[in-house]
Order: sequence, then C-alpha cells, then structure tokens
Amino acid sequence: MEKVAFAVASRAADNPRSGIREIFTLANDKAARGETVYKLMIGVPDARTPDTVIDGTIAALKAQKTQYTANAGITELREAIAGQVNRAHGLSVQADQVIVVPGAMAGLLFANFTIEPGNRILVPTPGYPNYKMQAGLTGLELLHYRLGIENGFQPDLDELEDLLKSDGAPVGAILINTPGNPTGTVFNKETISGIARLAEKHGVRIISDEVYKDIILDDGLEHISPARFAPDHTLLVGALSKKYSMTGMRVGFLIVPRHAIKDTDVLGEATISCAPSICQWGGVAALEGDQSQVAGYDLQYRQRRDAIVEILTAADMTFTRPNGAFYLMVDIGDAGLSSREFALQLLEENGVGVAFGSDFGPIDPAHPLYAECDRLVRIAFCSGSMDELEGGTKRLCEFYKERCA
Ligand SMILES: Cc1ncc(COP(=O)(O)O)c(C=O)c1O
Repeated sequence: MEKVAFAVASRAADNPRSGIREIFTLANDKAARGETVYKLMIGVPDARTPDTVIDGTIAALKAQKTQYTANAGITELREAIAGQVNRAHGLSVQADQVIVVPGAMAGLLFANFTIEPGNRILVPTPGYPNYKMQAGLTGLELLHYRLGIENGFQPDLDELEDLLKSDGAPVGAILINTPGNPTGTVFNKETISGIARLAEKHGVRIISDEVYKDIILDDGLEHISPARFAPDHTLLVGALSKKYSMTGMRVGFLIVPRHAIKDTDVLGEATISCAPSICQWGGVAALEGDQSQVAGYDLQYRQRRDAIVEILTAADMTFTRPNGAFYLMVDIGDAGLSSREFALQLLEENGVGVAFGSDFGPIDPAHPLYAECDRLVRIAFCSGSMDELEGGTKRLCEFYKERCA
C-alpha cells in the first residue's frame, strides 16, 4: 500500500515562527562553543523563585494534591487572584470571574476563542509576536495599530477609532499590553480610559495583557487596567510568571466580565482541563505567603534600566526610556541593515544577542508598519549581570556606529 502523507493545516504550518527563539538558539550554540555571549534577547527573569512558592508546591505534592482540579482552578487561587487585582489595581473582581490557566499565553488564547473566527483583532505594533501566532491559530485577521517611538510608544486614540470604523470584517477586540513588550511603555491613564470608552462605544472587547502589571519602573506611576473603566468590556489576562520568577510553572489567569462567565466556562474543559494542580498551590503560596523575597524586586530592574539608558544616551542613540516591564527598543535604522541582519551580525561578530524589531511587526513586509518595526531592536534587561548588560549595550552601540560610518 502506498502511504499518503497528510498535510498540516496552514494555520500551524504557515504560522510565523518566533524570531526571538532563532536568536536565542544561535546565542546558546555560540555559548556552547565556549564563546562569550551577552544575552540580551529573552524576557526570562533570572531571579530565584521565592522559597514560599517552592515550599507551597512541594507541600501540595506531598499531600497528594495531584489530581484534576475544577476547570477554572482551585477556589483558593481564584480568590487570591481576585483579592490581589482588587487591592493592587482598584478593581472589583469576584472569584467566579477568574479562570486559572497555564500561563498568560493560555489566557490570551482563551480570550481569542471568545471572538468569532474571521473577525479582526487590533494588535499593538510593535507588539508581542505571539499575538500574531494566536490570531493565525484562532482564525482572526490582524489589524495593526501603531505605537510610535516619537510618541513614547503610546497609541493614538483617533487612529484606533479610525481602524475600528474601517471597512472589513467586524473588529472583535482591541488588544492592549501595558506595561508593554517590547516597548517597556506604560500606557497613561487618559489612553486607557479613552480605549475603554472606544470599546464601549463600538461594542468590542478589550483583551488586556497585564502580564507585566507588577513591574513599574518609576515612582508615582501606576499600572491601570481598562477593567477599572470598562469592566464589562475587558478580558484581563495576567500571570504570576514574571513577578515570582516562575515562568515554567505556568500559572496565569483570565478574568472575564460577569456577563461572560457562563459562555466561557467550556473553554477550560475543552482544552486544558485545568492548570497543573501543584503549581496552582504554588500560586496560592506566591500570592498569600511571605512577600519579603519579592519586596523591592523591581529595584534591580530600575538599576539595570538606568545603566542601559545612560550608555545609550552617552552614545547618542535614539530610543524610548522604558517605565515598565524590562525591555527597551533602540533605533538602529541607519545601519543599512534589516533588523534581523543587524541582530544576526551583532551576535556573530560582537557576541551580543538582541531581539529584532521586524519580529514584533506585521507579517507582511509590504505593510507600512513593517518598515518602522524593522528599524528597531529590543534589549531585554531582566537577566544576567550588570557587567553583561553594560558590556552588551556598549558593544551594540559600537557596532551600530561602525555600520553607520
Ligand atoms: C506580553 C506578554 N504576554 C504574555 C506572555 C506570556 O506569559 P506566560 O509565560 O505567563 O504565558 C509574555 C511572555 O514573555 C509576554 O511578554
């Protein structure tokens, strides 16, 4: 019998691959060959996971809490998450609105599943590349809104409204990400309340990716969720991944408006059953336990941000000083290279790994925002020593100057 190969659907086969992974793999290969590598390309904090989280997880394991939990997660964790967002961000979420998921990625996917396939989704550009991938998997059409470096990467509300009114399939959601990856920008209060008003006016949901909500780098600045202004239009996605340095434990959440609880309760059952039971208990320990190991944890990011900003300023580079998360975008547009070529050559010749801007842009190189993203590279400053960060940033500046000369 002749065997006939099956074809993988284009939503997976043709989905864009992660450029960050490409650089990450090359950087690791280089390091494995014994070469010096400055790893500024990936957003995985190298802080230790707090002991309370480790102990809480081990205790759950020893107590045999190893079976399925309710689809939406254990009550203790749902209550702890609701309590945390209410206290920290002035919301009035109840535990039954919280769906515990394996990381923010699953929360974003669930949020996409609430949109009719074929609808459009407004995504920040430059923005987290996985938004594009998930739209491809869930049958949504991408509509890019611009975050301009000259405007500190804040969106323009008029442009957003024009896009909401533009011809084409209905717009199902405005996705926002504040503090943002890759920009490090915290959207200001007027912007968030303006987006909330637009969502209510046009009857679209906001998917609010708040995975960096706890990482604010300037005094007097506050993380503001659109759920504060438009609770019935906001799907709030968060995770414990970054603050508690537990990215591999996969504890995230999706908070749905009250009116959507019943219609979304199938999502967990049909996909993941539940988030890993013992990690959920680790999550309870993270939120309810001793916070001393995370107290002032953002100080290290502030110090790292300040050091990089000083180097970039001294080298007269164009960039936006980030005030949240742990990323910074630098303009390398005059080097005469695409951002990918720049990143590959910088790694090969100077041993510095950075993420390239086109990875955060539209898939289609002919899209007007592609070229803008392609002028940028992203520095991640959440891991490595200060020497590594400073050395890598200086080398980046030198490499850029050489190429411009
Ligand atoms: C903007 C953004 N959203 C979501 C995620 C995914 O978070 P998690 O690891 O909790 O799934 C990341 C991870 O880097 C991110 O940068």
